Parts: sequence; structure tokens; C-alpha cells
Amino acid sequence: MENTASVHAKKIMLSGIQPSGDLHLGNYLGAVKNWSGLAEEFDCFYFMADLHSITVRQNPAELRRRSVSQLAQYIACGLDPEKNTLFIQSHVHEHAELGWILNCYTMFGELSRMTQFKDKSAKNAENINGGLFTYPSLMAADILLYQADFVPVGQDQKQHCELTRDIALRFNNIYGETFKVPEPYIPKVGARIMSLGTPTSKMSKSDPQGCVFIMDSPEEIARKFKRAVTDSDTENCVRYAPEEKPGVANLMSIYSSVTGRSFAEIENEFAGQGYGAFKRAVGEAVIETLRPIREESQRILADKEYLRGVYTQGAERASSAARRTLRKVYKRIGFVEKPF
Ligand code: TYM
Repeated sequence: MENTASVHAKKIMLSGIQPSGDLHLGNYLGAVKNWSGLAEEFDCFYFMADLHSITVRQNPAELRRRSVSQLAQYIACGLDPEKNTLFIQSHVHEHAELGWILNCYTMFGELSRMTQFKDKSAKNAENINGGLFTYPSLMAADILLYQADFVPVGQDQKQHCELTRDIALRFNNIYGETFKVPEPYIPKVGARIMSLGTPTSKMSKSDPQGCVFIMDSPEEIARKFKRAVTDSDTENCVRYAPEEKPGVANLMSIYSSVTGRSFAEIENEFAGQGYGAFKRAVGEAVIETLRPIREESQRILADKEYLRGVYTQGAERASSAARRTLRKVYKRIGFVEKPF
């Protein structure tokens, strides 16, 4: 890791994923895939958003297991812990502290408009808790604590990133320049991967049949793609038309994202071949993309001491950056300086 002087010369990237389920293809293509390879140019912070995940009831043993296995998967996806700061959100208490403060600068109306809140409260009608509602202020705290310039996320997080910008601007307008105003960094292809079973809903862990997990076996992945919904038309032709043929468009986005081929190239490649051959090819491309990640994750996961070292070092680095911002915020809002 570089010294503080050079850290400041680089722009800052920050993102997180909730360990509320195992990582899936949407998380990978929409987010993690685009995190690797950034560390030369940016100072990068990536974390397991465990504070966020308890807005929905979690099994404690599973949450603990997934937080650590998510870290192993981050590393297996190419995030070198020496070049990226990888940490567990709850290890850096400044997140919860700034989260509380930003709650007081976030409006009820703003929070009510968040689509993730609306979706999750519809799915968890028996547990619409305060944390679910104020989730975006905590996410703003995650980002603003590190003075992040860019937030690499999938399309579904754009609204939260925009609210973060509004909160930062509001705070800066009242107290003077305190927070960097961040920008979302969303990939052109893969930002919204849809369910293989219901291509009009986004791929998510709550729909395991339509969701490909990074740790799925090659056989499971092949089976899921074989069953993927294409379209009910009789055309049987691979053509990019998201409105008319959302299933095919989704498979094309996945294929494009893992092979780097354009939609025109994909249409040519499968001209006259029908959906069956196309689905098989997409499945195989995904299997080959995920195979080294799965194998490397399993290898890393076996070394619990190593992982413990990574998240310990990550929390130390993250805390020192977070502490700096929080101290500034406390001073700006008028809290008495802590004498010890
Ligand atoms: P989460 O945990 O739901 O998802 C993690 C990342 O994966 C992306 N993603 C997708 N991209 C494409 N297609 C999909 N089907 C798909 N599903 C998920 C998400 O856009 C996200 O980038 N609130 C965040 C976690 C978070 C965070 C943060 C992110 C907490 N604090 C600070 C950035 C910065 C969330 O729920 O993501």
C-alpha cells in the first residue's frame, strides 16, 4: 500500500455488497468484475456491507460465513488485498456513526421515494423496520466517509448514489466543503442482469432458479442456462431487441459481458442457429469465466488465518481514512472535541 501522500494523488473508488446471499452473476458482471484492474489508477476500498444486510432478518451463522466467503470471492475475482482495501463494514464503527448523522440530513420524502425500499418492503411486509427505511443514509455514509470520487455499482444502485450526492451537497452548503460529491460508475454492458427465469425482473438471490451463483458447479450453471426463458416468438433468431425479446437480450448482455463481443458480432455468430445452441454457448462461456474464480475462492477459503489477516489489515486502513472525515464532520456540526 502506498504512503498517505501518494494515496491522496489518486482518485478514490469505493463499493460494497451485502453478504445477505452468496455472490451471483449479476453482482459479478454489474459490480465486482469492474473493480479489478482499477487499483493501479485509483485508491480502492471494497467492503462486505454486513450492517446493511441486517435490514432483512439474517441467520447469524450464515451471515458470518458469507461475510468471510465473500471476501475470498473478492480476492478470487482479482482484488489483490495489497493493492485494494478490503474490509468488513461493521469493523469500522465510523460507518454507523456517520450513518446516524446523515439520517438527520436526509428527508423522509427522499427516503420514501427509494425503489429498493419499496421493493424490499413489499417482499418483507412483516419486517418493514427503520433500518430498511434509512438504509440510503448509511450507504451515503459509506461513500462519503472515504471521500470517494467514484462508486462502481450496477444500475439498481444509481438512485442511492444520486441521493448520496444530494446529501453531500446539502451538508456542504450548510457547513462548507466537507464531502467530496461522488459519481456512480456503471458499466455499459452488464449493469442490469435479469433473472434467467423471469427476464423482466433483475437477477437476485431471492429467486435461486433464475440466479447463477459464482460458486455454482458447472453442471448447475449448464442446467440453469438450458432452462433459461428465451421468448415465446416463433422467430427463433438471436437478435438484440430488449422490449420485444427481453430473455434473448439478457442472454446477449451476459454473453457480451463475459466474451467482450458486441451485440452485432453475437447476432452474426448465431445466425441461423436458433436459441438452443445459443443458450448452450452462453452457459459454457459463463462456466469458463466462473471456473477459475470458484476454484480460487475454494482455495483461499480454506486458509482462514490468511483471510483474517486480510480483513484485519483492511479495517485498519479503512478506519484511518474514515476517522479523518468523521473528525471533520463532528467539528463542523458543533460536537465538543473528545479530550482522550
Ligand atoms: P447489493 O448487495 O444488492 O448488490 C451488490 C452490487 O451488485 C449489483 N447488482 C447487479 N448488477 C447487475 N445486475 C443485477 N441483477 C444486479 N444485482 C445486484 C448492485 O448494483 C451492486 O453494485 N446498497 C448496495 C450495497 C452497498 C453499497 C454501499 C454499494 C452498501 N453500501 C456503498 C456501493 C457503495 C446493495 O444493496 O447492493
